Amino acid sequence: MEKKLAIDGSAPVAEEKIPYHRPSITEAEKTAASRVLDGGFIAGPGPECERVEERLEERWECERVLTTTSCTHSLEIALLCMDLQSEEEVIVPSFTYVSTALAVVRAGGRPVFADIDEETLTLTAETIEEAWTENCRGVIMVHYGGYPGPVNEVVEFCEQRNLFCLEDAAQAFDGRFNGRQAGTFGQFGALSFHATKSLTCGEGGALLINDPDYIKKAEMIRDKGTDRSVSCRGDADRYTWRSTGSSYVLSDILAGILNEQLNRWPEIRKQRLQIQQETFEMLSRLDSEGLFEFVRPYHSAIETNGHITALILQSTEARDWFLRALQAEGIEALEHYHPLHHTPFARENLPPPESLPVSERIAGSIVRVPAYPGLTTLQREQIGEAFEKIYPHLLEKIS
Ligand SMILES: Cc1ncc(COP(=O)(O)O)c(C=O)c1O
Repeated sequence: MEKKLAIDGSAPVAEEKIPYHRPSITEAEKTAASRVLDGGFIAGPGPECERVEERLEERWECERVLTTTSCTHSLEIALLCMDLQSEEEVIVPSFTYVSTALAVVRAGGRPVFADIDEETLTLTAETIEEAWTENCRGVIMVHYGGYPGPVNEVVEFCEQRNLFCLEDAAQAFDGRFNGRQAGTFGQFGALSFHATKSLTCGEGGALLINDPDYIKKAEMIRDKGTDRSVSCRGDADRYTWRSTGSSYVLSDILAGILNEQLNRWPEIRKQRLQIQQETFEMLSRLDSEGLFEFVRPYHSAIETNGHITALILQSTEARDWFLRALQAEGIEALEHYHPLHHTPFARENLPPPESLPVSERIAGSIVRVPAYPGLTTLQREQIGEAFEKIYPHLLEKIS
């Protein structure tokens, strides 16, 4: 028999709300922060930042990694390296976080929105082609939800048209395509270590520089337009102002935390993937009618980092009801990006794209559910119970 739902006045499954996300922080990270504080060097980039950078450079075969204050700022540094003119365009998806397009505006260029592809949930060579004009200088491709996008075809397209390719891998730390990490294919990649990400130091990011020609310029932009990094390496007596830039340097306190997160990453990643798999299996068993489509690797070459556990429903009406029902049961399930071409800033400042139907459909039908290592056994059972309670009602609503 169907159970009455919390949305209709019954008791919620989880009396204590289950948050969408909690970062995985242990004593190791707390000890690391204290150790750096006690050591006295708490600015950046000090030994802790350098250690993060060296570890990523070595493991990911990057020419240079710069730790930064955020992914937003990493994107900004990469775009400032390109010396964009005001009429020059950079193609970005509309279904992404504001930072992807904001960085283009901050660097003086014009973002142009392209549609995403249904399977990859990001740009493909085909969707980029539709948005391309003679004014286009580059492309920012987003690796959605920890699933690397079709980066080989995008890089190839960019090479053919003489465009730069910047990968926004904010959500895709250690997501891999053919064994190679997201962020290492284009000229640049940008990572986020924000508290909402799988590997975090609260606020932070990294710029992966894959084209050595940009290393010096990016280092100066990160450090207030100065050649401080050159003088720190002992190659100059003193440093001076040489270019545009800002203060994009990560504090060593945060980098100390990040080094511990990197030590724990194999374990965090394994747990995330395990919980994601369990969630999909539980939902598949329940979903006799195929109401849910899961966001999964669209190609055998893809290894996700388990960043997002998401499903797509058949309509916005069904999705909005499902979200409200889950939230009433105490489960903090969430929608995701609102298409950027619908935002007030874009409407007021950017030419409207013709139509981006896939971006709009996915934004209106996606649901993200809690799936992270800190969930207790009880919480995992409660999530399952809430799905079981709600599913028959959803079925009724849809049929
Ligand atoms: C695709 C994408 N790019 C950039 C960002 C911004 O990252 P940060 O908060 O590190 O600036 C996010 C944040 O969620 C994101 O999802």
